[in-house]
This record gives sequence, C-alpha cells and structure tokens, in this order.
Amino acid sequence: MTAPLSVQSTGTATTEQDEDPVRDVARTFDAVADDYDQSGVAFFAPIARRLVGLVRVREGEDVLDVGCGRGAVTLAAAADTGPTGSVTAIDVSPAMARHTRRAAEAAGLDHVRVEVTDAMRPALPPESFDVLTSSLVLFFLPDPAVALSRWTRLLRPGGRLGATTFGAQDGTWQAVDRLFHPYLPPRLLDPRTGRADSPFASDEGVERLVGRAGVRDVRTVREWLPVRFRDAEQWRSWSMGTGQRAMWGCVPQDDRPGLFERASALLEGARDGADIVLQQEVRYTLARV
Ligand SMILES: C[S@@+](CC[C@H](N)C(=O)[O-])C[C@H]1O[C@@H](n2cnc3c(N)ncnc32)[C@H](O)[C@@H]1O
Repeated sequence: MTAPLSVQSTGTATTEQDEDPVRDVARTFDAVADDYDQSGVAFFAPIARRLVGLVRVREGEDVLDVGCGRGAVTLAAAADTGPTGSVTAIDVSPAMARHTRRAAEAAGLDHVRVEVTDAMRPALPPESFDVLTSSLVLFFLPDPAVALSRWTRLLRPGGRLGATTFGAQDGTWQAVDRLFHPYLPPRLLDPRTGRADSPFASDEGVERLVGRAGVRDVRTVREWLPVRFRDAEQWRSWSMGTGQRAMWGCVPQDDRPGLFERASALLEGARDGADIVLQQEVRYTLARV
C-alpha cells in the first residue's frame, strides 16, 4: 500500500502547497469513512491488535488512541483495559469519529470516549494517560515532531507510546502503486520515498522523530503482514475504502479502466491458490516517557 493516500509529511513544518493539510486530510477521511475497512480484507485490525499487544495495554489503564479511524485500535485497547480503565479516541474526521462512537456503543464499551480533535493540538489534560497509541497516522500530520512532543506530555511518568507506520512492501504492491504515480501531485507521493529527507523511510528515521519528543527506550518491531484479496475487484474496493481513494481521485475517469486492467494483471501474478497475497511490512515504534 502506498502509504497513502495523504498529505506527505516530511517531519518539518507545513509547506506552501499544503495550505491546510489537516483540513484536507479530514475531508479525505470523511469521504472514505463509510467504506473504510469494510471490504472484508484483514488489514487495519491485525495491525491494531499487534500494536495493542506490543504496548501491553493492561486492565484498568487509561489509553489515548490518536487518529482512531473507525476504531481498530480503540476497540482492541478497550477490551484490554476493561471497564475499570478507559480509552479516549480522537480523530480529525467527524465521520470517522462517529463510526468509532457507534462501534463502541454497539459493543457495550461504555469506557470509550470519542472526540473530534486535531492530533496536532489535542486539548487534553497533561499526564492523564498510561498508554498512547497511534496507528498509521503520523505520516498524515503536517509536523509529526511537534505533535509527538505534545502527545508525550499527555502521558503519566512511565507511560508507553506505540505508533505504527509502513515499512517496505513487496514488488507487486510497489508496481501496482507505481501505476498511480504519473497522476499524483507531490503531496500524495509516498511519504517513505517521495522525499529524500523523509523520516518515514527507515526505522532510524522514525525512531529519531519519536526520540525528539523526549521519550526513552525507543525501539522498533518490524513485521510483514500478508494481505489477502479474493480478486482484483476486492483490491479495488479495499483501496477505495482507504485514504488511497484520494489517489484514484487524481486519475481521470477515462484512464481508470486501463489502470485497473494493468493493476489486475499485476495482482493476478501474485495469486497463491484462492487468494492474491500481497505483503506489507509494518513498523511498530515503541517508547516510554
Ligand atoms: C489510515 S487511518 C488509520 C485509522 C486507525 N488508526 C486504524 O488503524 O484503522 C488515519 C486516520 O488518521 C486520522 N488523522 C489524520 N490526520 C489527523 C489529525 N491531524 N488529527 C486527528 N486525526 C487525524 C484520519 O482522519 C484517519 O482516520
């Protein structure tokens, strides 16, 4: 998956082409929210579950989930804190926040609170959380270093932070994502490779970024996630239900059938029995205050 879908973040301040990158991202995810993670492809949930396991959310703890989307991490964390703990979930997209709120209500998780808030400016009391999670969000932020330094102030002494970003992807996935490149404005290029100085290009880059927030014991766990698609059509509906929809939006209508045909041929080359199997490496960056 081209880490996506988004306003490219370089770890430095907002650039001239991103006049209001946060508002753009909120719009993108509002548009995608109803379809987000609804294609039946296991992608966000396994990443979320692994993150919650790695930060070791315990019963009774207070968790802040930043950029909650439809609640993949929020709901997994809420199961682990139990009702003696709490999960506060924030997202800049009102539609995403609404979905998470509904999912928590449907699951009877009364200890989940969801707020529409810009992660760059979370107005939450300092030292009020034991754990902060943020899955696949950092590369959307106009200044992730500033955001991280604000987030870590929200953690109690000894509190833990866990954030995921994308590592490498297999050759097929790269080739499929490259089909979009001729159409993309610079702000939608892959944050790992779109700029030479991107902190998202390596474990060390992300660790340095997180380390600048005054945390300690920064470490990375990197794992491959096999992602299974029934067919190219399911890949398309999955991609339309992620921030990658913004990339489809850059492709003129007339060019879309041709792009899909080329993507289908590439994807079929990765068929393994009943499924097309693509591989995405996920980087889990962990630290404590
Ligand atoms: C790829 S989704 C990940 C959602 C969720 N963490 C998951 O793993 O499914 C990125 C999410 O970050 C949110 N986001 C991006 N920029 C944000 C910001 N400045 N403040 C709060 N949320 C933001 C988006 O609205 C979106 O819901």
